[in-house]
Amino acid sequence: MSPNSMWTFGLISALLLTLGSTGLSSKVLELSDRFIDVRHEGQWLVMFYAPWCGYCKKTEPIFALVAQALHATNVRVGRLDCTKYPAAAKEFKVRGYPTIMFIKGNMEFTYNGDRGRDELVDYALRMSGPPVQLVTRTESVDMLKGSHTIFFIFVGQQEGVVWDTYYAAAEGYQEHGFFYATSEDIAAQHFDFEKLPAVIVYKEEQHHFYPHGHLAHEMDPNEVNETVFQWVNVERFTLFPKVTRFNIHQLLKTNKYLVLAVVQEDKLNQIATHELEFRDMVEGVIRKHRARYHDKFQFGWIGEPSIAHSIILDQLPTPHLIAINSSTQHHFIPEDDPMQMTPQALHLFLESIRNENAIAYGGDTYFVRLNRALFEVRRALRDMWLGNPVLTTVIFGLPLGFLSLIMYSIFCGDCLVTEEDPDEDHEKKE
Ligand SMILES: *[C@@H]1O[C@H](CO)[C@@H](O)[C@H](O)[C@H]1NC(C)=O
Ligand SMILES: *[C@@H]1O[C@H](CO)[C@@H](O)[C@H](O)[C@H]1NC(C)=O
Repeated sequence: MSPNSMWTFGLISALLLTLGSTGLSSKVLELSDRFIDVRHEGQWLVMFYAPWCGYCKKTEPIFALVAQALHATNVRVGRLDCTKYPAAAKEFKVRGYPTIMFIKGNMEFTYNGDRGRDELVDYALRMSGPPVQLVTRTESVDMLKGSHTIFFIFVGQQEGVVWDTYYAAAEGYQEHGFFYATSEDIAAQHFDFEKLPAVIVYKEEQHHFYPHGHLAHEMDPNEVNETVFQWVNVERFTLFPKVTRFNIHQLLKTNKYLVLAVVQEDKLNQIATHELEFRDMVEGVIRKHRARYHDKFQFGWIGEPSIAHSIILDQLPTPHLIAINSSTQHHFIPEDDPMQMTPQALHLFLESIRNENAIAYGGDTYFVRLNRALFEVRRALRDMWLGNPVLTTVIFGLPLGFLSLIMYSIFCGDCLVTEEDPDEDHEKKE
């Protein structure tokens, strides 16, 4: 242990002792303003929270599991109460609760993904290492295949334009993906490449290649850069991921058509059978025809219909299908009743979008944005009313009541005065 890490260790034990904890490193450390002084020591995954914040409470048990999962790594997991320690909140420019950050050295990264255990653990593991990790044993590739749904791997000499660009893309996408590099010998037992260098993405038990790997030395470096970045950008998703409020922004960055099967998941993540059948039908078709749609379409499914409602500004019954042009934000809805939709109808729908024959709705004009804002307000009010009618009446009813009293007194002020005036005169006379 270096003197520095001894010192950090001492400090952390001290932090823990103040909590009366027994000092298990698998616990979430309760941090204070003193964290500002130790942030440079090691790597941290920190949740900045406020005691009154509901989302923070929801994330708390998940964060405890994250701390357990990371206890054998060099990432420390902590949380900081921003209402008690505003100096630290200010130092890290915390704007909302909870804010989850990965902090190493002078760098801090704000986490924007789903707040699930696996997502957070993967994120911390990605951020804790260098952008590209070297794989030196052939068994390690098996382990990677077992533990990651998606990873990228570079095969060949670690030099030249493809390597440099791959490394730069790994740095750029470190928050979103795992990047590795290995030798020809090790890779040969796992992937069927013919020429080197090869850049490979492994996902769902298949692997795909960056198409220009071995030709890149003849290409314009700018083109290599652009194509590698764009390839990584679109290949970092599985074929049919679950789409949430958090990852939808990343999916829209693919600049493809985003096609989403929308179903209703209940609190236990259960989906009604007929909705499940519809989702499986869509997934089956696109898996079978990956090559046909891969260049223009990214697929996925939504379990929370309100995400889809915010896009189409309407409440369609579930299940249904929507397609979004991610660059213009236009959306498309098939005319067929989803429950009657056949694979053939799905192909026709996708082809009509590709050929730009389908009717496009929405877009990203000011009018649509205004409509979107109004829609969100209406929905928030409706949800609030459905959730708690009494509270909604109190919150909006009381101020409205006061407001009407105030308005009344402002506008009827004159009449009151004129009515009172004679009285006053009367009194004065008496
Ligand atoms: C490569 O492309 C990325 C993404 O478009 C860009 O951010 C980066 O600056 C480019 N790098 C070079 C060296 O052109
Ligand atoms: C989105 O629409 C624009 C304008 O119509 C079109 O140029 C673009 O190709 C569409 N997006 C996709 C992924 O095709």
